[in-house]
Amino acid sequence: MGENLALNIADHGFKVAVFNRTTEVMKKFIARENPPGGLVGCETLKELVAAIKKPRKVIIMVKAGAAIDAVTQQLLDAGIESDDIVIDCGNSQWTDTIRREKQYAGKCKFFGSGVSGGELGARFGPAVIPGGDPEAWKHLKPIWDAIAAKVDAKTGKPIETAQPGKPVIGGVPCSAYIGPNGAGHYVKMIHNGIEYIDMQLIGEAYWLMSRLLGMSATEIGKVFAAWNEGDLDSYLIQITADILQQPDPVHKGENLVDYILDTAGQKGTGKWTSVNALDMGIPANAIAEAVFARCLSALKDERVAAGKQLTGPTPSYSGNRQELINAIRDALYCSKICAYAQGFQLMREAQKEYNWKLNFAEIASIFRGGCIIRARFLQKITDAYTRSADLTNLLLDPYFNQQIQNAQTNWRKVVGLAATNGIPAPAFMSALSYYDGYRSPRLPANLLQGQRDYFGAHTYERTDNPRGKFFHLDWPEAKRPQLEVSGH
Ligand code: 6PG
Repeated sequence: MGENLALNIADHGFKVAVFNRTTEVMKKFIARENPPGGLVGCETLKELVAAIKKPRKVIIMVKAGAAIDAVTQQLLDAGIESDDIVIDCGNSQWTDTIRREKQYAGKCKFFGSGVSGGELGARFGPAVIPGGDPEAWKHLKPIWDAIAAKVDAKTGKPIETAQPGKPVIGGVPCSAYIGPNGAGHYVKMIHNGIEYIDMQLIGEAYWLMSRLLGMSATEIGKVFAAWNEGDLDSYLIQITADILQQPDPVHKGENLVDYILDTAGQKGTGKWTSVNALDMGIPANAIAEAVFARCLSALKDERVAAGKQLTGPTPSYSGNRQELINAIRDALYCSKICAYAQGFQLMREAQKEYNWKLNFAEIASIFRGGCIIRARFLQKITDAYTRSADLTNLLLDPYFNQQIQNAQTNWRKVVGLAATNGIPAPAFMSALSYYDGYRSPRLPANLLQGQRDYFGAHTYERTDNPRGKFFHLDWPEAKRPQLEVSGH
């Protein structure tokens, strides 16, 4: 990632000084590459600091966590000064970035920037999601705008034609200042939470086609390729089509995906998103389901053992095949709308918590290109927040409301089929429950609150009284179980 980011910057005419703790790695890199802006190899951090024009801009690309503090301290020891900008481009937790900005104040300007798009994105155009001191941002903006992915100004479609030494010229950069301190890393974390649910939803669509229709990976890959021509057009759908159709290098005539072990790893950003949702009391249940689905997948041995004892129906479907494929597409689309609604609701709440002023139209617009969740759909979200910057929930936008109205019968059908056929589809189901819960003026929480008051005198509000007025009933039956217990 670090090498690719350096090359991307140098492709845009900026001279870049590079350092790696293993000098050999740095030397090989310098010998191999010759980008237009030029690279300056540095064997020590002192050399690196001396090689950069003031105010220095130093990008750290190391594993999130303690290594960031260690490297920042080494940079300070090597001569970094108070006006210099130290930029953490990893997937750091936003609270760490808030803490670091304060901790290093007066020693350097510590700045956090999300970078999304994997290694190829870093090389040819990532989405960049910067947050920190606004004065520092003025120095970074020209570089960030230059290296970011570009989208077409009219259509919002990514322009994906960059080659080594030949960056994209023109287009709108997928780069925008998010806000102070940890805002950039927070929004990058939400991007990743959405990435988790996007991936899980795609997996569930694949699995339903496989289980209910007995389709091969190649056949399903072709369906995803066709979906990529419509509303679902996105990087993750596109790579899914490729992955499903990839032949296995070992077993001739078979598909690699059928040999990949069904356990998914995770590095933590989805978990952070879910924990943050719980902390703030925001229902981001579909995002959390995506994290738990990975956790369940990791229990491979237990699942294999349980499968020998726990029973359920054998999947079967005798209806029209194309109709079911279309229904699965609709279920995926509706669930995806809910997932984004949850991600944006989290950001809405977080801005209150951290005193940020987030521009949701701009955030959606920088997700249109370069990043892992880039999708045609992001233009629609940009439009929704451009129409109404204060939109309470994406589901309430007229466009998305209409989309769900058009597709929800199919969504419900697919969730029903998954349940009756014993096929796990936690993200589809959870997203539908979110949708139905969010549109319900009345929920069974009246009973729940009654229970709380019954056993714990936690009080309740009444529908026939103003909000904020609390009641408690000395429940006539409440003491009975206790009496019975003491009577034993
Ligand atoms: C990106 C990705 C990137 C990385 C994830 C993977 O935006 O480029 O999100 O940051 O691939 O951290 O996360 P998991 O290992 O948790 O799946």
